[in-house]
Amino acid sequence: MPKAKDSSPNRVPRVAIAIMAAGKGTRLKSKHPKVLHEVGGKPLLAHVIAAAIKVIPAKDVYAIVGHEADRVRQAVAHTGINFVLQKEQRGTGHALMVAREALGRYDQVIVLSGDAPLITAQTIEHLRDFHTSKHPAMTILTAQLHDPTGYGRVIRRGKSVEVTAIIEEKSTTPPQRKIREINSGFYAFDAKLLFAYLNELKNDNPHGEFYLTDMAAILRGAKKSVMAMAVPDPPEILGSNTRAEMVDIDQRMRLAKCRQLLAEGVTIFYPQTCVIDSDVEIGADTVIEPFVQIRGKTRIGSDCHIRSYSVINNSVIGDAVVILPACMLDEAHVRNGASIGPYSRLRPGSEIGENAHVGNFVETKKTRLGKGSKANHLSYLGDSEIGEGVNVGAGTITCNYDGARKHMTVIEDGAFIGSDSTLVAPVKIGRDAYVAAASCITDDVPPDSLAIGRAKQIVKEDWAKAKRASRQKLDKPVLG
Ligand code: UD1
Ligand code: CA
Repeated sequence: MPKAKDSSPNRVPRVAIAIMAAGKGTRLKSKHPKVLHEVGGKPLLAHVIAAAIKVIPAKDVYAIVGHEADRVRQAVAHTGINFVLQKEQRGTGHALMVAREALGRYDQVIVLSGDAPLITAQTIEHLRDFHTSKHPAMTILTAQLHDPTGYGRVIRRGKSVEVTAIIEEKSTTPPQRKIREINSGFYAFDAKLLFAYLNELKNDNPHGEFYLTDMAAILRGAKKSVMAMAVPDPPEILGSNTRAEMVDIDQRMRLAKCRQLLAEGVTIFYPQTCVIDSDVEIGADTVIEPFVQIRGKTRIGSDCHIRSYSVINNSVIGDAVVILPACMLDEAHVRNGASIGPYSRLRPGSEIGENAHVGNFVETKKTRLGKGSKANHLSYLGDSEIGEGVNVGAGTITCNYDGARKHMTVIEDGAFIGSDSTLVAPVKIGRDAYVAAASCITDDVPPDSLAIGRAKQIVKEDWAKAKRASRQKLDKPVLG
């Protein structure tokens, strides 16, 4: 027998979160959908989802997608949330009409805006708890802004918590325009009442859209309660309709990230000049100098020193690593105690071993440099496996590409590669072997041997002297 439905007021409500993400973002003048524009190093929508799934499980979160729906879906599918398709974008109210089937079975629907990425899990929780305890038909998250331009204004009944209407800026009267309490675009609804009255929305407004904001007046007209809950930290609800707003949000997010890292024991000199993405992790006592970018999912250990002008993307860096000025690291792994730079470029698949050194103007790609090995100057090391305690001399080049395919270079432990050598892959330099400077190595070099791959030096004694003498003879003036 099916269980009787629990209708007691103390039952925990079934809560869904709907994130509106179907709009085109006309004001950005972009070929990319608005919610995929990035702030803090990841799409607007990804930030909103991250906050939502800290509050409720992903299976109860629904993104309403429409413009470029497939791209948007693909970008955030890994989060495990659901998607509802709003084929035609006929307004924020219409977005919920198309989600009726998905959301109708919940008790409470929290609506978030996919273009307001500073929202925190804490505020969503407050909104949920406020709505659950006071139980109006609609709770509107509001904020007092110094400059409310562009936002819908909240009309309260006197000074009470009750709201009579939200007026979109285009429809405000001059006195209403002065109201600084704005609609954040975040709401909590009693799902039953939302869907009972949603069809009363009309699109007789300047944009010809169904505005979700009109639900305030509709529910009010039906004698249902509509309340405002003011957010304590107003910038949290900022939306990004324009590039200028987006850049402002990006800056706020990155400064907040720096403050979080400072609190966790990381020194960041001059944080205003650093670009650190939201998902970056850095250990205590690491020092970040000015003008450093740390992007993507980079993880940096403790006691590291990252010097100015380095750009580090999606890399893993151990403890006590020194990155000297102006290095570029992309999908690289640097182990404890290593030293990189200045001016090194570590491309994807670079793995730099413990206490290894990669110096100036050295480029690595798909290369493992073993523990304590050194490549200190002017080298290209691609598709190579380099053992421990190897010395790679200045100007060494692995010739890994034959015009069609890539080939491996293997350098075993303890080998010494003389300066200006070219190692034509596939090739292997054995353990503790020597390669003479300026060699072109095309054949494997056995362990403990010396390979010399260059033309033999010829010395012509007194050649220069003789040359000078013959020149002097020619230069003598002819007396006549
Ligand atoms: C909306 C509110 C406004 C509020 C502001 C807060 C309305 C009518 N106005 O204005 O009161 O102050 O947010 O930031 O709601 N979307 C869809 N489907 C649509 C239309 C929009 O999913 O058919 C999505 C957009 O992608 C966006 C969100 O809904 O993520 C909000 O839409 P947007 O056009 O940005 O509304 P605002 O003009 O900012
Ligand atoms: Ca907006």
